[in-house]
Parts: sequence; structure tokens; C-alpha cells
Amino acid sequence: MSNPMDHVHVSTHPLVLHKLALLRNEMTEPKKFRELVREIAQLLFYEATQDLSLARLTVQTPLGPAQGYEVAERVGIMPILRAGLGMSEAVVEILPTVHVWHLGLYRDHETLRPVTYYNKLPAEPDIDLSMIVDPMLATGGSAVAAVDILKNWGAKRIKFLGLIAAPEGVQMLSTAHPDVEIYLAAIDSHLNERGYIVPGLGDAGDRQFGTG
Ligand code: PRP
Ligand code: URA
Repeated sequence: MSNPMDHVHVSTHPLVLHKLALLRNEMTEPKKFRELVREIAQLLFYEATQDLSLARLTVQTPLGPAQGYEVAERVGIMPILRAGLGMSEAVVEILPTVHVWHLGLYRDHETLRPVTYYNKLPAEPDIDLSMIVDPMLATGGSAVAAVDILKNWGAKRIKFLGLIAAPEGVQMLSTAHPDVEIYLAAIDSHLNERGYIVPGLGDAGDRQFGTG
């Protein structure tokens, strides 16, 4: 029997770890924070797309034809609003052909359960790989709800890209959806009584948008 943790990939790349410490620092102001979210998201997206299929092509250089490749899969990313926005912008920068489907979810402060308020999925699931992007995997409720929405829509191959997770969130997502590959920069110690990741980085939405 396969171990659900086989689907969890925590980056050990030195650049990710270096930037993650800067991101966590409470002295990092929103402008720098957004820049770090973007940079770490690109590094993690690079790691999460190692298995993308390629098609061969020929291009003309100034000196003649050269054999090359292009990404052959249709990739869609689903940023969970609002904290996932910074990560989706980062992904679009390095793979401009991605489709972006915004999903509005917020956690109810009392129950910590996700509440859906916006869904921009197109009618047809005409995509090969779907990737949810959200910096924080806390209880896991938002990520599980996002995967449920993608699966009900018809998505087959789904990955989750986050920055920091709590063990509780990883457990919940990998138990509910063991087929979903999870890519992270870190798994932290635990959740506090308000559902925040400890030590984490605080509220990822507030820190990106200066609303704390
Ligand atoms: C944060 C985060 C996730 C969610 C994770 O969003 O960006 O979407 O919490 O928590 P969970 O794993 O317990 O569901 P939040 O609800 O704070 O909304 P925001 O991005 O609008 O600030
Ligand atoms: N959402 C955040 O932004 N931070 C946490 O630690 C948990 C949920």
C-alpha cells in the first residue's frame, strides 16, 4: 500500500530556504513580502513541473534550424483568494500559457471552515494539469474544498502548491485526496487555537496586502 506522504514534496533548495526565512521575518514589509512570495512561488513551481510532458519542435535561429521542445500540456492554476494571488502572478510570469481560474474562499473566523464567494472556472475542464496555489495550508479545509471543486468540475490531475503547511493540513489534504501531489517550502510545528500556523509567518493575505 502506498504511503500518502509520498505525495508530499518539501523543498530543500537553498534559495527557497534562504528566502523563506526572510518571508517569515515580522520586520519584512509588504512590498518585500510580495516579492519573496513571487520568487519562492516560482522556485516551487519549477520543482512541481519537472514531470510536464514536452513536444518536439524546430525553430530557426539566425544560423539555421534548431531542434527544441515546447510544453505539451495545458496547465491551469487556481489561486485561492486572496493570498494565492501573489503566487499566481509569479506562475504566469514564467509560464504565460497557463489558464488562471480564481477561486474566492475565506475561513470563517469562528468555525475555521472555508466559505466560497467566487468561482471563475470555465464550463469545460479542457486541461491536462490543474494546480491550486495558496501560501498557507493550515487546517486544510480550504485546500480540500478547492480540490473538491476541481474534481466535481472534471479535473483529473491536480497538484497543490503552497509555501508553509501545518502537519494538520497536510494530513487532512493527503487523507481526503491522496492522489494530489503537494509541493511546499516548509511543514511547521502546529496550529494554534485560532488556526494559525506556528511559527508560520502570520496572515499571508494581510502581509501581502498591508491589511493587518
Ligand atoms: C488563508 C490562506 C488559505 C486559508 C488556509 O486564507 O490563504 O486560503 O487561510 O487555511 P485552512 O487550511 O485552515 O483552510 P484566509 O481565509 O485568511 O483568507 P484571505 O486570503 O482572504 O486572507
Ligand atoms: N492563514 C494564514 O494566512 N496564516 C495562517 O497561519 C493560517 C491561515
